Amino acid sequence: SPSDPDLVERARAAKERLGDKVFVLGHHYQRDEVIQFADVTGDSFKLARDAAARPEAEYIVFCGVHFMAESADILTSDDQKVVLPDLAAGCSMADMATAEQVAECWDVLTEAGIAEQVVPVSYMNSSADIKAFTGKHGGLICTSSNAERALDWAFEQGEKVLFLPDQHLGRNTAVRDLGLSLEDCVLYNPHKPNGGLTVEQLRAAKMILWRGHCSVHGRFSLESVEDVRARIPGVNVLVHPECKHEVVAAADYVGSTEYIIKALEAAPAGSKWAIGTELNLVRRLANRFAPEGKEIVFLDKTVCFCSTMNRIDLPHLVWTLESLAEGKLVNRIEVDKETEAFAKLALERMLALA
Ligand code: 13P
Ligand code: SF4
Repeated sequence: SPSDPDLVERARAAKERLGDKVFVLGHHYQRDEVIQFADVTGDSFKLARDAAARPEAEYIVFCGVHFMAESADILTSDDQKVVLPDLAAGCSMADMATAEQVAECWDVLTEAGIAEQVVPVSYMNSSADIKAFTGKHGGLICTSSNAERALDWAFEQGEKVLFLPDQHLGRNTAVRDLGLSLEDCVLYNPHKPNGGLTVEQLRAAKMILWRGHCSVHGRFSLESVEDVRARIPGVNVLVHPECKHEVVAAADYVGSTEYIIKALEAAPAGSKWAIGTELNLVRRLANRFAPEGKEIVFLDKTVCFCSTMNRIDLPHLVWTLESLAEGKLVNRIEVDKETEAFAKLALERMLALA
């Protein structure tokens, strides 16, 4: 159980035994029972940077999902070991773009005669293979906190962008931040021949969006925004850019998990907020800010946790820390050298953005 005092004590003791040898990173969507043991918390961008800034830690325990642990492995030195407490903590969005599908897509773009004009931009939420593809073809990685700068950079390198794998972050950033129109964007469906697009459509497009999405954020609808505005007069609607375009267009503020936290920290007492992102984070923020008189509610009526983020629970964390403390390396995430080299190129282009 979440508050099992025995498990809490065991996690604390194992962490103490490991001392500086271990560094625990926690993504904001992690459970309270896990986040209490994180040395740092953050959004995907901050955690990638924080992982790289701990060269003295032998073990980086990543409380988050698989692609985050891979990215940490890519950005840390070879003798540092990145550990994911439950190997089944994947990301359904990242799984929506496989290396084979993306290679096939590149063939389609090549046959349409546009591949040389296309710069790939991949969301952090993608496998190391996709990151390597991106680096190999002159592109870069972005997260929800730097997608605008990443797209600006990409459009300085080429005329078109292939955005992988989250169509919503790609579309929202292109339209809200870069001022492109919805007609400048086309949707590439990896399950259809030629992505379901004609050569003319591909040639006319500025943004080629991969047909991927986050099922957690996909649950928020225009109706949820309208409902909450009717229910709570004066409410501020703040959503993550993985939400659908119509939700983002109807919201008052849009940003990454770190942005959401900063916005609520800065909010005046008495203000009311409806938050469209994962529930562990929203509940934690609602509890944290209630004493300051800030009313924070979840944007939707039904609950939606990220089921894979939730796989990292206290029993898994205890098992991981105790194993490491006994000198047993478990659940290491290791990206092969060739993939790592190209993926690192794409990640470093992101880190170099002003
Ligand atoms: P950020 O924390 O970067 O906003 O990303 C959200 C997310 O979906 C991570 O999986
Ligand atoms: Fe993936 Fe969505 Fe979960 Fe983030 S919230 S890890 S994008 S499924």
